[in-house]
Amino acid sequence: MTINIHEQKILILDFGSQYTQLIARRVREAGVYCEIHHYSMTEADFRAFSPRGVIFSGSPESANLALSPRAPAYILHSSLPILGICYGMQTMAEQLGGKVEGSSRSEFGHAKVEIIGSNPLLYALEHASTEAGRTLQNVWMSHGDKVTKMPDGFRVIAATESAPIAAMADESRRMYGLQFHPEVTHTAAGQEILNRFVHEICGCERLWTPANIVTDAIATIRRQVGSDKVLLGLSGGVDSSVVAALLHKAIGAQLTCVFVDNGLLRLHEGDQVMATFAQNMGVKVIRADAENLFLGKLSGISDPEAKRKIIGNVFIEIFDAQAGKLGKVPWLAQGTIYPDVIESAQSKYGNAHVIKSHHNVGGLPEHMKMGLVEPLRELFKDEVRRIGVELGLPYDMVYRHPFPGPGLGVRILGEVKKEYCEVLRQADAIFLEELRRADWYHKVSQAFVVFLPVKSVGVVGDARRYAWVLALRAVETIDFMTARWAHLPYELLERVSNRIINEIPSVSRVSYDISSKPPATIEWE
Ligand code: XMP
Repeated sequence: MTINIHEQKILILDFGSQYTQLIARRVREAGVYCEIHHYSMTEADFRAFSPRGVIFSGSPESANLALSPRAPAYILHSSLPILGICYGMQTMAEQLGGKVEGSSRSEFGHAKVEIIGSNPLLYALEHASTEAGRTLQNVWMSHGDKVTKMPDGFRVIAATESAPIAAMADESRRMYGLQFHPEVTHTAAGQEILNRFVHEICGCERLWTPANIVTDAIATIRRQVGSDKVLLGLSGGVDSSVVAALLHKAIGAQLTCVFVDNGLLRLHEGDQVMATFAQNMGVKVIRADAENLFLGKLSGISDPEAKRKIIGNVFIEIFDAQAGKLGKVPWLAQGTIYPDVIESAQSKYGNAHVIKSHHNVGGLPEHMKMGLVEPLRELFKDEVRRIGVELGLPYDMVYRHPFPGPGLGVRILGEVKKEYCEVLRQADAIFLEELRRADWYHKVSQAFVVFLPVKSVGVVGDARRYAWVLALRAVETIDFMTARWAHLPYELLERVSNRIINEIPSVSRVSYDISSKPPATIEWE
């Protein structure tokens, strides 16, 4: 019998918190499928989704204002278990007859809550510390307002000095509110609290596992495409690599991948992609060597957005030409992942920003009208990686840093030239090699070298050297929306700088980028 891994699921009602995706990732880690929907979701959509429980997210809004976002009555009175987090708890309290007040002291950061009494959500948690005879849990708080009067039927289940109602429960209605954030790792028992909500209170089983996701995806792909052929643009990045492995397992020789070598890849990258997929796994991969075409079109162009557009368009041209040779292929596979889906849904509500036009295989020519196969649409990046490992892809490929679609094209400032690409490739390989050697590669989220088209004077031996300047960039981030520059050890930076200047004669100077995002972005262009 096949398991339906989507049957027992949780709805996450989004009020606009920066942590909403984190809540969803924690629920998935508990082995339960969940989806994020806007708080204004329709009753028909809610009934069709049919969750076993609902989590209300936080929000930057104030729950004590009349026009604040509210949970729809058909969800609040659905008799399903509900967990309100921060604003989610406050709006639940307000809507059920309690009271929320702004406070002069906002609470942000680490806090200690005292658990009061026993209840299905917060009983006997480990990770507790004791102070003056009281048992306390370390949690993460981030709020200004707080609940000052609970609705009828609720009781206090946790308190802090400044928030006497830090958590509340009405066990008969299976409704719970937490002023603190269980989804954030600083809340020591956070995952355990969410596990209890989804497993014990909502009764969901642990069906959302990498092995089950793979089995389910294979069955879905086979159902969708039957015996048709499928085309995939393979970039060597994590998402398209996992799609390739998944489709290969599902439909074998019906899959053809096109790998476009645009001359803007990292050192040996093209050969590695061919070795992994074509040689080791037996995937049908067509390699299109198009360095000259890309560099020709980029010649004389220095505006970053113009470069992105050219790279995107040439990619599509080549992809189209290669696909044309295959005869009729009705399906195009893409590595769209769940955050892309959330972002495009959010743009309907007007809260998505375009700072850089990210290049994707989106704008295919009219005549290529193909159906889309998007087997990662429901998955977060960490889930994509886990199923990549499950499918047997090499660890280093699955856990590598992200690489932008336009590649080195946006890491060479201004005009792109072959000579610059070659210098950058060598320097980048040295930087990454030293990061791995010093065990720093996986401690940073993304690291690379940037080519600055300026020359600077140096001295090597007795000779004056007038040569290029490079910048090293390494950042730590969770979501790539904000990032901190990585505090790499000086010895490591020194080794990288020495090696680059000694091994690449056309470089005279290496600098380290200490800008965080915002206000800087991660890439320089
Ligand atoms: P920024 O520079 O916007 O980068 O702070 C955030 C993340 O996005 C990647 N990035 C891109 N990815 N096409 C892509 O596929 C692009 O044009 C592009 N620009 C930036 C960047 O590498 C970082 O991970």
